Amino acid sequence: MTALQFELDAVLDTLADQGWIVIPRALPAELVANLREACLQVWDDGRFHEAATGRADGQARRAEIRSDSVLWLDQVDGLPAVRAYNAAMDEIMQAVNRGLYLGLTELESHFAVYPEGAFYKKHLDRFRDDDARVLTTVFYLNENWPADGGGQIRLYLDNACQEFIDVEPEAGTLVLFLADRFWHEVLPAKQQRLSVTGWYRRQGGSLPW
Ligand code: OGA
Ligand code: MN
Repeated sequence: MTALQFELDAVLDTLADQGWIVIPRALPAELVANLREACLQVWDDGRFHEAATGRADGQARRAEIRSDSVLWLDQVDGLPAVRAYNAAMDEIMQAVNRGLYLGLTELESHFAVYPEGAFYKKHLDRFRDDDARVLTTVFYLNENWPADGGGQIRLYLDNACQEFIDVEPEAGTLVLFLADRFWHEVLPAKQQRLSVTGWYRRQGGSLPW
């Protein structure tokens, strides 16, 4: 049984057309609530660490760029809610491969907690030396996010970053965009903000430059 609450074909068309999509109420409310519970549980258990930027040797904690904390889902993939999430996201991956021939092989994702005041400055998700990340996935876990809560993702639609949309981090909303194309940032959250961020990867690896 599929957990997806949207038309996959329509999503694929939009992705093929514009390279990004916002899907409200993408998964059942109960799954979202369970995932939120799981996130808060492991947060209370102290399992998160402060996020870094860059990859491998280039990794550094830069609090002026981002101030969220993360926990990779492979650390907690025995939790039923995490399994259910991964199953749903796998269904999307299979459809994207069938429809768009992106050759995706896996999803890597992490819980992210933005404490009050936290943000993530404008960036691209693809590392300079690694082209394996193809499609970014962001899924929000905040029920009844207030209009003045901040914490929107600002997705820039052009390379000059003139045009953008702001998306509220409301529970159940799924945002997908091509990782190498779209600049984006997280505006300062005025209260604790929970999400799952991930990347569908292809067999790629390091670029020769
Ligand atoms: C990221 C990111 C966006 C969001 O973790 O790289 O851009 O809305 N997250 O949480
Ligand atoms: Mn990002």
